[in-house]
Amino acid sequence: MITLFDDGDALARGAAELFVAQALEAITARQVFSVLLAGGATPRRTYQLLAKEPYISQLPWECVHFSWGDERCVPFEDPRNNALMAHKALLAHLPIQPEQIHALPCTLSPQEAADAYQVELETFFNGKPPSFDLALLGLGSDGHTASLLPESAALDEQQKWTAVTRYIEEDFSRVTLTVPILNQARVVLFMVVGRRKAQVVKDVLSRSNIKSPYPAQLIQPVSGDVRWFLDREAASMLDEKNVSIEQ
Ligand code: 6PG
Repeated sequence: MITLFDDGDALARGAAELFVAQALEAITARQVFSVLLAGGATPRRTYQLLAKEPYISQLPWECVHFSWGDERCVPFEDPRNNALMAHKALLAHLPIQPEQIHALPCTLSPQEAADAYQVELETFFNGKPPSFDLALLGLGSDGHTASLLPESAALDEQQKWTAVTRYIEEDFSRVTLTVPILNQARVVLFMVVGRRKAQVVKDVLSRSNIKSPYPAQLIQPVSGDVRWFLDREAASMLDEKNVSIEQ
């Protein structure tokens, strides 16, 4: 389902409301809410909203467990680190314990970090493939999501829960959850803002290139519940005749 918002702030409020609703549902049903946080810039506003009223008092944060869909293999203190962004915008402001945060150990080599992250998730999910209650994802202009990068071998990984990827032009590797794991999520929420994403949003949502799908097109949760939150700029090239949009 696609939901349009006037701008990034309205989208962030919508995402915070969905986060709270999904969390309350999961906690009522299973006493725990496991959320996969997205990196990049878009989710920051949502995280900042969740860290204050009216949202922060709506959840029993001791029941929430935080993981990431991907991480850049840079030190935690590096501004490119996804966990640092979430820590500053949200986690540092919450009444939570360190055991509720399942981050990647960036001090290891990329493959060691990927392996260690799988062990961390195996432990938390008792060895079963993780089924996150809510997976927050972004969309890159090249159609990547998490760090599932175009033409990367990670796109074909069906057994492991994590994989190492790298853009040739970047001086760091990335660790990403793999497609089967992301597709185990109960709800996937893509958050996309800005005119520079309009073309890739159109390409991904119009399903015009199914022969060589964008990484984001591989995200089709087995639960079937994938939500797209777009601001009007990111949705500006969508043809409302061939995609259904909830206003
Ligand atoms: C990352 C993110 C990545 C991000 C998209 C969109 O670590 O880079 O996980 O998948 O979500 O690139 O990034 P923006 O929100 O900054 O546009």
